Formats: sequence, C-alpha cells, structure tokens
Amino acid sequence: MAADASLYLKNLWYLAFHSSFLKKGKLVVKEMLGEKIVFGRDATGKPFALRDNCPHRGVPLSNGWFKDDTIQCCYHGWMFNTSGVCTSIPAMPPDATFDPSKIKVFQYLIAEINDTVWVYIPEKKLPNTIPNEPPPNLVLTVDQKFKHVETVIMPADIDHSVIGLIDPAHVTFVHQSWYWRSASKLKLKEKKFEPTARGFKMVRHKPSGNSKGYGILKGGTSTEITFEIPGIRTEHIQVGEKNQIVSITILTPLNENQTELTHIFYTDIAIANFLWLPLKRLGKQFIGQDLGVFNKLNEGLKSKPTLSLIGEPDLQARWYYEIKRLWAISQQNNEQFVNPVQPQTLHWVT
Ligand code: FES
Ligand SMILES: [Fe+2]
Repeated sequence: MAADASLYLKNLWYLAFHSSFLKKGKLVVKEMLGEKIVFGRDATGKPFALRDNCPHRGVPLSNGWFKDDTIQCCYHGWMFNTSGVCTSIPAMPPDATFDPSKIKVFQYLIAEINDTVWVYIPEKKLPNTIPNEPPPNLVLTVDQKFKHVETVIMPADIDHSVIGLIDPAHVTFVHQSWYWRSASKLKLKEKKFEPTARGFKMVRHKPSGNSKGYGILKGGTSTEITFEIPGIRTEHIQVGEKNQIVSITILTPLNENQTELTHIFYTDIAIANFLWLPLKRLGKQFIGQDLGVFNKLNEGLKSKPTLSLIGEPDLQARWYYEIKRLWAISQQNNEQFVNPVQPQTLHWVT
C-alpha cells in the first residue's frame, strides 16, 4: 500500500525498551528496523548501543564478554570500549605499530527518558551523527516514571501496526465488552484534527458519552490524542484541574514481519492506586484483543489481497502514508519536512 517509500523511516528515535531491561555488566541484543543492536550500561549507569557485529569477522558482539566497560569479542578477543572504539587486538605482536583505535563499531545515539530507552536510527551510519530531531516528548516531567509497561509483538509490519493503532472503526468490533461499549449505542462521532510536528492530533475534547471507562473519573475530563511517526500514539487525559492520565502506545518495527507494541501508562490520580489491578487487566485485555485480530489479519495478508482505505474512518491511515512518504523524501534531500495534514473535522460511527 505504501507508494514507493521503503518500509522503515530513518533519522527518527525508536523505543528500545523500559530502562529496567538494561543492567550494569549485561549485554542485551535487540533487532530494530531489521538491524541487530547490542545494548548495555556502563559503570556509571549510562546506557550505550552499538551495532551488534564485530568489525573483524562480523560475529555478534553480544556473544562476547562484557566486563569493566569493555566488550570482548568471543572469536579472536578484540576489545572495544562502550563507545565502540577498539582498544586491543590480542593476537597482534607486541612490536606492531597498528593503532587499534582506528577501528570503530557503529555507535547509536541513545536517550533515556522517564525510564524508557530510545535509539536514534540514522539514514546513514556515519561517525558523530547529530540527530535532526530531539527524542520524543513523553508529556511527563523528568522525575515522573511510568507506572505500567506492557509489551507484545504484533505479527505485522510497521505500516499495518500503525494503521491498527490509529484506526477508529475497529473499536466497536474488536474492543466491544459489556463494561466498555455496547453495539446498541453506536453514535456519530465528530473529531477535530490538527497537524503536529511529525503527525496529527485529535484536538482536546470531552471523552465520548458511550465509553463507560471514563465514567469513574470525576471532575470533568478532557482528552487529546496525538499520533507521530514513526509510531507513537499519546493520549493525554486531563482530570479536573490538577490530575492527569498519560497513556502512550509505541510501535517499534523489529523486522518486516514483526512489530513490538509497548504500552506505558502514568497517572497521578489517587483512585488509580485502588483500581490498579482492574485497570491493568483492562489494558491487557485491549492489547490482547488487538493481537487476536492481528493474528487473523496476518493469515489474510498471506494471500496478498488488494486493500483499500475508504472515507473519513480511514483518513488517518491515508495521512500516515502521506506523512511517511514526505518524511522519507525530506530526509533523502536533506530538506525540512513539511506536514501535509491540514486542520480538518472527521466523522465516523463507533
Ligand atoms: S570476529 Fe571478533 S575478534 Fe574476530
Ligand atoms: Fe485496538
């Protein structure tokens, strides 16, 4: 469906994992955008990310040893510091004049925000990359930590996963449950949209009356939902004057067939501490329902059917493809990205 664009968008920050995955002295390997990346934390606690191939003969560095801020390859023992610079080649005779620091493993830029670890995936793997974009704004202040993190792997590429995330029309059929919505109460929805830096947002509004899930929140609530490439959906719910709920769903493409979905959740509402387990269960159930329909979608797509995106319920999906296409062009030409989305009101029945 995506016109000529390649599957992955580059020069953007991608979520790797929750900070608790990275422990001092341990190497963690993860595939992101089809690239194998080895992660670790140095002695001071600072995270690092390197290409997971030894520059000698290509063995994954994650198969080696990590001690005293040094990674040693398991094949011929070459050593690297956490910036990826080679510090020793054990087989080299003592009188050799070769300077090992000329050899460097590609080092990815990494950022740790609110206990989440992000990696910048550049278009070109050049030394001293300067990111075009800051890491994403997770709405919270630096000291606030996410209360809940849930991760599942969707059996789909990033495009299908994004569309599943921003698709309003599946909610009635996939997430229908007695305490959330009932099919007999379908309503015509009217939502205002505006462009953001790298996506679009559903302008702050009162939550829809047929979502009983919001009923427990007293004091007037309003919600704003933002979507930005590569795949971050942020729902910010203001409760009364003082409290907030932040619910962020982040997609990280692992490869052409798998996309990791991470849901992180924050609230400063005291009642949430009592409702913690039911809330958690509700979140899990939602993700489980999406996963269920994605398994079916995966089956259907095997026969490579022709697909269609039709009308206002599918317009956000069309915006996604257009933003993606223009982002890729802007990065190739080293130009400013211009968002094609215009302020607009969309309608659908859910
Ligand atoms: S392959 Fe890593 S040291 Fe030879
Ligand atoms: Fe869903």
